[in-house]
Amino acid sequence: MSEKQYIQWFPGHMTKTKRQIQASLKLIDVVVEIIDARIPISSSNPDLSELIQNKPKLVLLNKCDKANRAATTKWVSYYNKQGILALPVDCKSGKGLNQFIPSVRKILEDKFKAQQAKGIKNPILRIMIVGIPNVGKSSFINRVSKQTRAKVEDRPGVTRGNQWYTISKDLEMLDTPGVLWPKFDDQTVGEHLAFTGAIKDNILDIELLAVNFLELIKENVTPEFLSRFKLDESDIEGKDGYELLQLIGRKRGMLISGGEIDTERAANLVMDEYRDGKFGYITLEYPEV
Ligand code: G4P
Repeated sequence: MSEKQYIQWFPGHMTKTKRQIQASLKLIDVVVEIIDARIPISSSNPDLSELIQNKPKLVLLNKCDKANRAATTKWVSYYNKQGILALPVDCKSGKGLNQFIPSVRKILEDKFKAQQAKGIKNPILRIMIVGIPNVGKSSFINRVSKQTRAKVEDRPGVTRGNQWYTISKDLEMLDTPGVLWPKFDDQTVGEHLAFTGAIKDNILDIELLAVNFLELIKENVTPEFLSRFKLDESDIEGKDGYELLQLIGRKRGMLISGGEIDTERAANLVMDEYRDGKFGYITLEYPEV
């Protein structure tokens, strides 16, 4: 399902991206990995820690406006337990981003002090954004760079071809994010990326996708989902994903000639509404306890 898109995207880009990230690593002090708070496992890159070696990392749990709050809190502590700082953010509205600079400073505190001790008066520290496609990298960069002044002027010491944004007096951000790849050989990963809309629907079987999605969420159905389709729990009980899709189509009057239910239309509706957050805050992946 997801394979088609990622196999096309993967071979050339992966080597190029690896090279680009490795070259940029020399210039930066912290890697900021943006992941999707609804699917932290599927939206993170399997090779990142190897790629960035010992560089400190900050994790941004983005799109937290669409994720289950308790689950996001669990993910924050999951990362903290591994010594990684994680911050829930919503790059669309900017929520949570006021904690971004303080978090980077916290990570770089020792480095900052060490530089000052060496006699560097106003050390400038640099960050780079990385993440898989559609996770919110451009939204983040737009938000953070809008809050501050324009791009850093060309000046000696700044590598040609790299453009930096000043995001605070001692912090600069590389304007080109590293586009990472997900763990695309894992079927569940592909499916979860598709559920959240990170993989475009035109290469997918949307009905199959919606059926699998309904199978997954009927186990932990939200009140918003039920009221959206005027269902109660007993309507769902014992039904498989396809039957549920048919029920939703019927409830919404999605019929084709002969009174048959237009399950393709219903499937598009289900996926659109989930991605728009109409079913409430639903996280699809939880940390192992
Ligand atoms: P990328 O650079 O990593 O590829 O991702 P990009 O910023 O383009 O974001 C991909 C989509 O995700 C965009 O939606 C963007 O608005 C949305 N998005 C990013 N961050 C958040 C967030 O924290 N919360 C929510 N709800 N959405 C977020 P789009 O449909 O492509 O465009 P549009 O609807 O904004 O026009």
